[in-house]
Amino acid sequence: MQSNSEEIIALPLNFKTHANFNLENYKDLQASFQQDYLGTWAKLAQEELFWHKDFSQTLDDSDKPFYKWFLDGETNISYNCLDIHLNDRGEKAALIFEDEAGESEILSYKVLHARVCEFTVYLKNLGVKKGDRICIYMSLCPEAIIAMHACTRIGAIHSVVFAGFAAHAMKDRIDELSAKILITQNGFYRRGKIVDLLEVATEAISKNSPVEDLLIFKRVKEPLSLQSSLKIQIHDLDRELKDLANLNLSTHEVLEQTPEWLSGNDTSFILYTSGSTGKPKGIEHNTAGYLLWAKLTSKWVFDLKDEDVYWCTADIGWITGHSYVAYGPLANGATVFIYEGAPNFPEADRYWALIEKYKINIFYTAPTAIRSFQAWGLEHIEKHDLSSLRLLGSVGEPIGTETWKWFYENIGKSKCPIVDTWWQTETGGIMLSTLPGVNYMIPGTAGPALPGISAEINPEGLLHLSKPWPSMLKGVYKNPDRYIKGYWTKIPDSYLPGDLADISVEGYIKIGGRNDDVINVSGHRLGTAEIETALAKHQTINESAVIAIPHAIKGEGIVAFVVLKQGLMNVTDSQQSHGSTEERERILKEHVANEIGAHAKPERIIICEALPKTRSGKVMRRLLKDIAQDRLPEGDLSTLEDKDVVAKLLAVSKLKQ
Ligand code: WT7
Repeated sequence: MQSNSEEIIALPLNFKTHANFNLENYKDLQASFQQDYLGTWAKLAQEELFWHKDFSQTLDDSDKPFYKWFLDGETNISYNCLDIHLNDRGEKAALIFEDEAGESEILSYKVLHARVCEFTVYLKNLGVKKGDRICIYMSLCPEAIIAMHACTRIGAIHSVVFAGFAAHAMKDRIDELSAKILITQNGFYRRGKIVDLLEVATEAISKNSPVEDLLIFKRVKEPLSLQSSLKIQIHDLDRELKDLANLNLSTHEVLEQTPEWLSGNDTSFILYTSGSTGKPKGIEHNTAGYLLWAKLTSKWVFDLKDEDVYWCTADIGWITGHSYVAYGPLANGATVFIYEGAPNFPEADRYWALIEKYKINIFYTAPTAIRSFQAWGLEHIEKHDLSSLRLLGSVGEPIGTETWKWFYENIGKSKCPIVDTWWQTETGGIMLSTLPGVNYMIPGTAGPALPGISAEINPEGLLHLSKPWPSMLKGVYKNPDRYIKGYWTKIPDSYLPGDLADISVEGYIKIGGRNDDVINVSGHRLGTAEIETALAKHQTINESAVIAIPHAIKGEGIVAFVVLKQGLMNVTDSQQSHGSTEERERILKEHVANEIGAHAKPERIIICEALPKTRSGKVMRRLLKDIAQDRLPEGDLSTLEDKDVVAKLLAVSKLKQ
């Protein structure tokens, strides 16, 4: 246990008095959860969600750890995000969108609802039914959010694949999901250049794919560049949605697309995330519990008010873009700003220009982005009026005290509380955070568990959640074993996220990083085994070991030690013909980017003769971490099979500095 010797930052008075959630609410709710845990969840679910049919049981725990929340209740996510606002907020902006070129679009709740309904009709006409899996490979744009909502409206399970993923990674996901439909777009602009999503999408489905229909939104003016060899139905949505409008379906018929009423426990979406094996896992989320927590945490943690313009910079390809862009804020009737481009295009002040232009009030981003802003310099910030900001948020990795303070002082001008939100793809919503009307802040420390969440730390320093909560994952798609073994076995009856943490006397939790082979590059989770599996597919590679080292901007950077196949090259050759080794390294970096995506590209590839292994054949990763950081390996090396390997590794690593 640490003492609270760290600096404490008090909340601004106006938050304490005007926040959606104040100390009194907090105390009442904590007491209520203590008295009647499930009853309190039931009450919140009744108050917050529209139920087509009431649930009679809050939690079915008869088949632990396959907890089922609100199983016999009937509701719909899209209905709760859109339809319920039509009377009071029909004309209010639901989405404000700006693309990189500066074109903008505002969609009121009424318009967003109409476009979702129209796309729902379209998908139904294609034969889409409840339970079908639909893959979405799109940039952060209104059409992507419309596609997600249309799926949840029908009860089709969407699986968004981040638009930075490579064709192979997408194919693996599509195949496991047996997705019959892939929704994509003909590209988008990133740093002024077109990212050709269609090319990657068509490659992903070019061989033995379950995909039968490829749906393409037109997002860039250039004509569609399609491979004609695809033996599937290709749909130009620009044309077909117009045709649909011409079908003379009355507006009434389209708008009255009553949603499919789903069980509270029906799967709403599957999102893949990295684990400690080579294969990403499909995290499956429920319907009612997920939305309940996305809605409540948006309201409590971000203190969302009707007049706010809220901006979360996360992409829809990650869980943050689901819970805190596409669903939670809309369930609260908020105005959500979305931006499609790069933060430093055309200049490094783009975000600040957007905050000034749209008078953004709440700004939620990631430490890696904050470190970039820090590196780009204060002059870009000082050019703009950021006085509209009233709350800042951070997510994805430990923010660290210095970055926290920089964010607080330079972006929040020392008057905006920061919520450092800890959670995961699996938890569905925020688990640990201060609340801006309740808890003081400690820079670099996430904060206490939110009301209803039971966070504990075991003697080994492992964070765990000792009670089921509504937005918890339902399971790992097609892999119940992985769900049980990965999350529920080490600490009985407790969910194990895989993070190390420290807790202070007042229940403030400071996250120390992962306790497994999952690394965090720019807030993106990657498994070392996943990168090793990608490397193993390259014809020149015999074996590899991937580790992470600290990186000033990305948080962690990837270093891969690789042993080439015999006869291809030995290290002495490489020392003589330096150029060819560099070429090999470049090729291998590209190879990883082609297999997984650019975000997985190693910072360094170190070609070596052999990996340091123990006598039982396990790679000694801590030794590789030392070597990659140019440190003499510390600790016990007596279990190493070949002691000479250390000197050899140091020699090749030094050579590459
Ligand atoms: C892992 C989850 C949560 C959405 C984005 C990432 C790390 C996340 C924090 C934070 C320290 C954090 C953890 C966690 N993490 N937020 N505020 N402080 N670490 O979702 O890809 O599922 O990754 O990100 O290690 O386990 P994800």
